[in-house]
Amino acid sequence: MTMKFPANEVLNGKYTTRTTAKSVFLVPFTLLLIMLPLSLMRSSREPTPEISSVSVSSLDNNTEVKQCNIFSGRWMHNPAAPYYSNETCHWIIDQQNCLKFGRPDREYLHWRWKPDECELPLFNATRFLNLVRGKKMAFVGDSVGRNQMQSLLCLLSHVSEPEDVSHKYSSDVVYFKRYFYHDYNFTLGNLWSPYFVRSSDADPRGHTYNSIMKLYVDEADEAWTSLVENFDIVIISSGQWFFRPLLFYEEGKLVGCNKCRIDNVTDLTYLYGYKKAFRTAFRALSSLENYKGVTFLRTFSPAHFENGDWNKGGRCVRTMPFTKQEMRLEDGAVEYILEMYVTQVEEFREAQRVATKRGLEFLMMNTTEIMLLRPDGHPNNYGYSKDKNMTLNDCVHWCLPGPVDTWNEFLLYMLDTMGSEAFFSSKLERVF
Ligand SMILES: *[C@@H]1O[C@H](CO)[C@@H](O)[C@H](O)[C@H]1NC(C)=O
Ligand SMILES: *[C@@H]1O[C@H](CO)[C@@H](O)[C@H](O)[C@H]1NC(C)=O
Ligand SMILES: *[C@@H]1O[C@H](CO)[C@@H](O)[C@H](O)[C@H]1NC(C)=O
Ligand SMILES: *[C@@H]1O[C@H](CO)[C@@H](O)[C@H](O)[C@H]1NC(C)=O
Ligand SMILES: *[C@@H]1O[C@H](CO)[C@@H](O)[C@H](O)[C@H]1NC(C)=O
Ligand SMILES: *[C@@H]1O[C@H](CO)[C@@H](O)[C@H](O)[C@H]1NC(C)=O
Ligand SMILES: *[C@@H]1O[C@H](CO)[C@@H](O)[C@H](O)[C@H]1NC(C)=O
Repeated sequence: MTMKFPANEVLNGKYTTRTTAKSVFLVPFTLLLIMLPLSLMRSSREPTPEISSVSVSSLDNNTEVKQCNIFSGRWMHNPAAPYYSNETCHWIIDQQNCLKFGRPDREYLHWRWKPDECELPLFNATRFLNLVRGKKMAFVGDSVGRNQMQSLLCLLSHVSEPEDVSHKYSSDVVYFKRYFYHDYNFTLGNLWSPYFVRSSDADPRGHTYNSIMKLYVDEADEAWTSLVENFDIVIISSGQWFFRPLLFYEEGKLVGCNKCRIDNVTDLTYLYGYKKAFRTAFRALSSLENYKGVTFLRTFSPAHFENGDWNKGGRCVRTMPFTKQEMRLEDGAVEYILEMYVTQVEEFREAQRVATKRGLEFLMMNTTEIMLLRPDGHPNNYGYSKDKNMTLNDCVHWCLPGPVDTWNEFLLYMLDTMGSEAFFSSKLERVF
């Protein structure tokens, strides 16, 4: 498959390991119909549910103890207008600016997540900014993490606008963003590293959407490890990049691959790379001497291509969330989503155990199943793309405004819950 690169990337010479937002629509699966695997999510493969986000027990009986699994619930129709629009927020990049690029339906903007056990409070920008005053927050990973950062920029813009200070920190201001909120002494940024581990191109013909890459799965990528110690709150996530053809290296030696189709190289599948990359990333965080941050894993964000692969005209045209009636499992169609989720949760649990011993806080933002319910939330073909003839639809990222704003409601809730508990306060002082 041939491809073109946007001029800015070619000019920057960044295309070797960094593809554009467009090129991340990599779901090389035939997802003919994605149906909801609720039953499977709760099958025996699922580890015992654990409220890792908010299982806060207070030592002080006077404090009202919040104990609510905010990730178990449902999408409820909500007539209220979204928090912002393409007119009120100027941080929405074209690829996710569905309103600007003519998406005709509006229903997808009118759903709120309702946890079974409690209310998820509305996003309050003042509250958020007060909590993060004097702190630094980074999204580590790929463009879906950046998608959440841009949602946060919009959600906060009612109250405060930051200065874009990216150029002070990186020569690569397309991929490494840094914003400074002067009013709150708050830094928000992203550290671009879609694999968390060192990677390079392996195809002599260069980098394309689906060209083979080398992954040194036991070597954390310095692009983020060299900077992450400066941050107090780190949200890590990754996903679609692991479906590419990949060669896996350990201790510098080729150990296997994903879809490489080389005779004597074992296909270990994308799950091997995904597992090892998370293991390496978590170990890096736990072993960095000066890292004192609170770490959030935002779990795998599912894509919703229907009627074809990502590169074979697959689309996401739905205008409503899946209903309970639609929660049927289409044979194998979503199995990979569950495998990705379970794989990272296993690594997370082990990492959390180790981190806890070191006094580090590792929390999980369990969004996979929640977002599986939102096939209506993607740009499809309503994000601007420089070359419409690519016939690629974006069923990976999320429209802004859109359901991804919910992730920041979770983030606020989790930060708030931690901060409000006497139990955590001494720890927080040290951690932050
Ligand atoms: C994640 O949330 C789903 C429901 O959305 C639940 O079934 C699952 O047990 C949760 N996983 C963890 C590890 O909390
Ligand atoms: C909190 O309540 C529990 C039982 O309700 C009691 O055993 C415990 O001593 C109380 N703790 C404090 C600090 O009052
Ligand atoms: C916002 O979207 C509308 C269409 O919904 C469009 O007419 C308008 O030009 C857009 N505004 C901006 C600033 O992008
Ligand atoms: C938002 O939070 C601020 C600060 O905590 C509070 O004063 C304000 O009342 C909140 N706004 C709403 C609408 O709840
Ligand atoms: C701003 O926050 C940083 C930590 O992120 C701190 O070192 C610095 O003293 C703060 N500045 C002011 C003016 O409070
Ligand atoms: C495959 O095996 C052959 C014969 O053992 C060897 O010459 C060749 O280098 C191997 N290829 C790779 C990619 O390891
Ligand atoms: C896109 O394809 C159409 C029809 O195949 C062609 O007329 C048009 O020139 C192409 N546009 C670009 C930008 O390549």
